[in-house]
Amino acid sequence: MTSADRLAITVAGLAFQNPIVLASGTAGYGVELANVVDLEGVGGLTTKAVSVEPRAGNDSPRVAELDEGMINSVGLANPGVERVKSAYVPWLASHLTRTRKLVNVVGNAAEDYAQVVAELDACARSAGDAAIDAYELNVSCPNVKAGGMEFSADPESLRTVIRLARAQTRRPLFVKLSPMLPDIVRTAKVAVDAGADGLTLVNTMPGLAIDVERRRPILGFGSGGVSGPGLLPVGVLATWRVSRAVKVPIIGIGGVSSGSDALQYMMAGASLVGVGTAAMRDPRAPQRIVKELDAWCRRHDVYSLAGIVGTLEWSI
Ligand SMILES: Cc1cc2nc3c(=O)[nH]c(=O)nc-3n(C[C@H](O)[C@H](O)[C@H](O)COP(=O)(O)O)c2cc1C
Repeated sequence: MTSADRLAITVAGLAFQNPIVLASGTAGYGVELANVVDLEGVGGLTTKAVSVEPRAGNDSPRVAELDEGMINSVGLANPGVERVKSAYVPWLASHLTRTRKLVNVVGNAAEDYAQVVAELDACARSAGDAAIDAYELNVSCPNVKAGGMEFSADPESLRTVIRLARAQTRRPLFVKLSPMLPDIVRTAKVAVDAGADGLTLVNTMPGLAIDVERRRPILGFGSGGVSGPGLLPVGVLATWRVSRAVKVPIIGIGGVSSGSDALQYMMAGASLVGVGTAAMRDPRAPQRIVKELDAWCRRHDVYSLAGIVGTLEWSI
């Protein structure tokens, strides 16, 4: 039994070499990290958001360190789908062979999500089909004036976003939800009924960090999204609750910085685990987490990590 056998997992019909996925917005489009992170050593990479038009993002500063974790208001800054097609999709096709590629998509209107998916799908087909493995629809960003959480707050809007995008691709569609939803289980069910193949839980939590010398928000936008260790139990609970209510796979994200954090998500019901803030702080963290997962398997005589998904012993 090799570590490759122990850690491999198939999710939404895609084989991942291990369950660790770089979280959207913290890994660029891959090329930016190529010399810093062993990208071929993780299970997957989720790109930064892609929108129809380029987005300048919010005023700086856009990121601030907290005692534990981080607050950001990047505002979904991205070069737009045309540039992503010409500069980044070909790079993903030719440089990442073992690692699955998920593209995060965002829009100001439901039609925008469908347009980005349609354009990227056509581009991926002409780049040899291996450029993109799945899409992640971000309907949960807290730091933008439009195109953020409103799509998941209203069931009808959420259905429309997913149905329109679904019609544009045969690749798996993950839908990323906010931990702030009043009833995340209900929203998750709406997403699955509308055609989501998987769910990503969770995005950042809205927060405000104040510079008390200036009596102003630290971030240029004002408020931002909180990520890092404090989000771990929030995301784990959301994963556990949703995984009991739906049958699709879950990518658990929020506050993961060790193998045991990742195991919490898996035991709660996640098949894949995202790492964001921890990787921004230490680019070697994702690879270390993979090693820690393997060590845990060896210590516990677990031959396939996939078997521990949803094995939390707790019923209420
Ligand atoms: C700087 C930064 C940028 C982010 N950008 C995106 C984004 O473009 N799309 C998205 O869905 N999530 C984005 N996120 C949220 C992360 O993907 C992740 O859900 C969140 O940070 C929680 O994980 P963590 O605690 O491991 O960082 C961003 C997070 C950070 C810190």
